[in-house]
Amino acid sequence: MNSLNAISVKPAKELKGEIEIQGSKNTVLPIMAATLLSSGRTVIYNCPQIEDVQVMCQLLECMHVKTSRSGHVLTIDTTEASYEPLPFSLTGRLRSSILLLGPMLARWQQAELGMPGGCAIGLRPIDIHLEGFMKMNVDVRLHHDMLTCNSYHLQGCEYHLRFPSVGATENLLLAAVGAKGRTILRGAAKEPEIIELCEYLRAMGALIEGVGTDVLIIKGTDALASCDYDNVYDRIVAGTYLLMAAAVPSDLKLMGIESIHYMKNVVDTAVKLGVSVVKHKHYLHVRSAGNVPAGSFETGIYPEFPTDLQPVLLAVLLRADGSSSVTETIFENRLGIANELAKLNASIQIAGRQAVIQGREKLSGGVVRATDLRQGVALVVAGLLCQGTTIVTDIGYIQRGYEDIVRDLRCAGANLSYV
Ligand code: EPZ
Repeated sequence: MNSLNAISVKPAKELKGEIEIQGSKNTVLPIMAATLLSSGRTVIYNCPQIEDVQVMCQLLECMHVKTSRSGHVLTIDTTEASYEPLPFSLTGRLRSSILLLGPMLARWQQAELGMPGGCAIGLRPIDIHLEGFMKMNVDVRLHHDMLTCNSYHLQGCEYHLRFPSVGATENLLLAAVGAKGRTILRGAAKEPEIIELCEYLRAMGALIEGVGTDVLIIKGTDALASCDYDNVYDRIVAGTYLLMAAAVPSDLKLMGIESIHYMKNVVDTAVKLGVSVVKHKHYLHVRSAGNVPAGSFETGIYPEFPTDLQPVLLAVLLRADGSSSVTETIFENRLGIANELAKLNASIQIAGRQAVIQGREKLSGGVVRATDLRQGVALVVAGLLCQGTTIVTDIGYIQRGYEDIVRDLRCAGANLSYV
């Protein structure tokens, strides 16, 4: 990981080359949490070298789990794991720290941990997680930044999630596989990351029905065994480069993409933005003339257009041949990128959850600040579209989820460097 704190981006006239797509962040983090459900050694292949994975390792290590890494192979050994509280100084560094709550309850019937952190894109409450746990007979207390949860008898339950929260579905699944009796989760999230987690838990010996639907039926068992995992590619990183290709004349190969099933809406959006996408066996061939038609877009629950790619879409639409709109429906505070883009001469009006973007404006380089992961990446993409040099500061946010965006974009011929 690079220790410099800013990225300098020069304008890109064209993008051409091959980019290797890293392993998925949002798939591997819940799977790392799942390793706590059994005693033994797990090898995770294609594990991205990102900050969030490092912090998750530190959290596991607090509970005497051993972790070691060699390149993209992460080994987690839970043989000597034992219960410990998790400090806010670590849990507050990532959202997925809350996913340790389910496995801790399943394994030790107790958990004391600091509140989760994560990108500042909305209030991000955890009420759905906690309501589900209370239904499972867990006593939940919150004191300052610490959550204390106890259950002398973690009991399967029937619970209807009022919103298909990805994190809450994962957390409740992770507890339910080790609870007594049967759990039925209605209104569950159906994201690809949930399907991967279910398949992984099944490989550990868990009994789960309804995978891929919004009703998950889980029969608790105490016979879960460690199991290795080969991580999938990161659909959001792939989507970033796919959308980016719309704004600059491009001829790119996105390598390591075996299936685009989970990216259908993103591919359709890229096509609408003038990108030609051809699927080959192990890669996507992406070409464009860099002419972006204006349009109206909206984020939504999977399989709709992902909120995580909304900031990049906004940046790309700065090149459109007219006025476009983007409506954010998942997080209430995720259009904040408009303020930073204004420093690059972009014209974006925000009204509630909708952004109206004026295309064709001449963007000029400047200094902008990353304030969350996807917003930071979108600023780098915007830098490619500016005249002059753009400096994106506070890139620690980007490194939480992208292994090395400078390396990736240099592979596409762009002129970027750490400064
Ligand atoms: C996951 O976050 C992802 N993070 C997010 O990606 C992604 O944006 C999000 O799902 C939606 O797809 C990880 O997987 C680590 P949610 P999560 O619970 O689980 C509300 C990235 O950049 N809600 O589905 O935190 C919440 O406020 C990150 O990689 C409650 O009201 O998302 C939001 O409006 C950012 N109460 C909506 O649900 C709850 O208890 C969706 O949140 C939980 C959520």
